[in-house]
Amino acid sequence: MTVDQGTGQRLRGRVAIVTGAGNGIGAAFAGALAAEGAAVAVADIDGDAAQGVASTIQERGGRSLAVQVDVTDRGSVRAMVSTVLAGFGDVDVLFNNAGVLLKEPYLSTTEQQWHKVMEVNGLGVLLCTQEVARHFITKGRGKVVNTCSTSSRSPSAHFAAYAASKASVLSLTHSSARALAPYGITVNGIGPGIIQTNLWSEMHRDESGSVVGDDPTVALDDYTSSILLRRVGTPGDVAPTAVFLASDDSDYITGQLIMVDGGIVLQ
Ligand SMILES: NC(=O)c1ccc[n+]([C@@H]2O[C@H](COP(=O)([O-])OP(=O)(O)OC[C@H]3O[C@@H](n4cnc5c(N)ncnc54)[C@H](O)[C@@H]3O)[C@@H](O)[C@H]2O)c1
Repeated sequence: MTVDQGTGQRLRGRVAIVTGAGNGIGAAFAGALAAEGAAVAVADIDGDAAQGVASTIQERGGRSLAVQVDVTDRGSVRAMVSTVLAGFGDVDVLFNNAGVLLKEPYLSTTEQQWHKVMEVNGLGVLLCTQEVARHFITKGRGKVVNTCSTSSRSPSAHFAAYAASKASVLSLTHSSARALAPYGITVNGIGPGIIQTNLWSEMHRDESGSVVGDDPTVALDDYTSSILLRRVGTPGDVAPTAVFLASDDSDYITGQLIMVDGGIVLQ
């Protein structure tokens, strides 16, 4: 886990599900939410990674459970919701954070690559939101937070399919905000910039997939010149916005994308 536990209790009594929480940004979200008193379901396709993060939260005195889920499979998503309701008795906040990165030049992007990235990043958000919204609707309240990207607004030529998938997450943020507002449910997005996580290990490879050099941070550094604050981010830079969007402080905000990118995309 990449974020220190805080001492606040802004989310005491709340239950959050964070998908893709076995690593990186999602793990930081889970840690920060738990530090504010939330019970957190750490959901990931990598069950061992999820268990590791959930155990760390528990060791620090937080409430957490690990759930193995494939966000592209409705049955798996339904089972995740059932497990969380059985374990914690409620769900208040859903973080749709699971995602995969694809770096591929526009002209060589294949159908297979397109389907994979759209399935996890796009369809996964639709399925998880639908299944958790059923519970939110019964209680007339709930929050959904989608991990978008700078790519949602500013696609690059080497990330065409990924950017399309993240544009779809932003579109789903807007459409679900409209669809779910009548039920007291808000939906917002967080747009991380360049955040140092395992996702960027792909950047350490050339077009043939071969590893280039020894230091994966070199590829990240190439992107620094496009960042106003002149550094790549950490998961801990993004987590406070997740806490804000899970808390009552954001109750009158819906359908919005908050960029946490050090100043890459100026909206
Ligand atoms: N790291 C960045 O620079 C950056 C920038 C913008 C947006 N994002 C987004 O942030 C989110 C988290 O990325 P990260 O950087 O922490 O990456 P990461 O690779 O560290 O974590 C992604 C997690 O998603 C999980 N996952 C993948 N497919 C899944 C599936 N089908 N079902 C459930 N879980 C699945 C992985 O097992 C992994 O634990 C992603 O949506 C990513 O697109 C990342």
